[in-house]
Amino acid sequence: MLDLSTRAPVTIARVEQPRYTPVAQALHWLTAALVLAVLPLAWIATSLPASPAQSFYFQLHKSVGITIFAVVALRILWRARHPAPPEVYVPRGLALLGRINHWLLYLVFLLMPASGIVLSAAAGSTTQYFFLFPIPPFMAKNKAVSDLADQIHLAGQYAVYALVVLHVLATAWHLVVRRDAVLDRMLPRQDV
Ligand code: HEM
Ligand code: HEM
Repeated sequence: MLDLSTRAPVTIARVEQPRYTPVAQALHWLTAALVLAVLPLAWIATSLPASPAQSFYFQLHKSVGITIFAVVALRILWRARHPAPPEVYVPRGLALLGRINHWLLYLVFLLMPASGIVLSAAAGSTTQYFFLFPIPPFMAKNKAVSDLADQIHLAGQYAVYALVVLHVLATAWHLVVRRDAVLDRMLPRQDV
């Protein structure tokens, strides 16, 4: 008869969920918060008539936008040295779509601030960075350059909307439909 008392003790190993590094997570959520601020600031500023209030919202929009440029540049440098954790399985086409979405997000969140900085500088406008210190125009006034950068900036906003909506919907799909750990990878470990 089988002697159950001699069974080897069972060790329950804790399988560690692969995650982005805490720095990558912090920079990711900082970008998300800044993006949530930069858009309404632009919508409010452009809806106001030329006034001190409009200039206040533009200064804030520009300051947050410049910060996004710095944070995204830092993220890309960090990412180059700290690869993402191995991907969660999804069919190949969707995995490719996800990767394209991520790289276009990086690209667009560099292009938007860059076009904003150029459109503003080429129009001869000074940015007061969070009302702390001025960032003077770094180039000569040039209407053609300012107009071109303006067109890129105005058209680029639709890429921002599309990419962010797709990104958030994809996260919701992982969470609700696939019920996998994709969101956990971008969150600190929960010890419960
Ligand atoms: C991620 C960064 C940024 C995003 C997502 C963004 C987005 C936007 C959006 C949605 C608008 C409103 C466009 C409209 O009227 O329909 C706008 C306008 C504007 N932005 Fe930005 N922006 C960013 C960064 C910047 C920066 C860094 C500057 C300058 C330093 C800047 C300067 C401006 C200016 C001057 C306008 C008014 C343009 C016009 O009315 O023709 N933006 N931006
Ligand atoms: C509330 C809004 C957001 C949610 C819920 C969200 C969620 C996520 C999640 C769950 C991941 C991990 C994906 C994976 O493990 O493969 C991720 C990655 C990423 N997110 Fe977001 N995100 C948001 C906003 C943003 C914004 C505004 C940006 C703009 C730059 C952004 C850019 C990225 C990028 C580039 C990655 C890939 C990181 C890498 O592998 O280099 N996210 N996001």
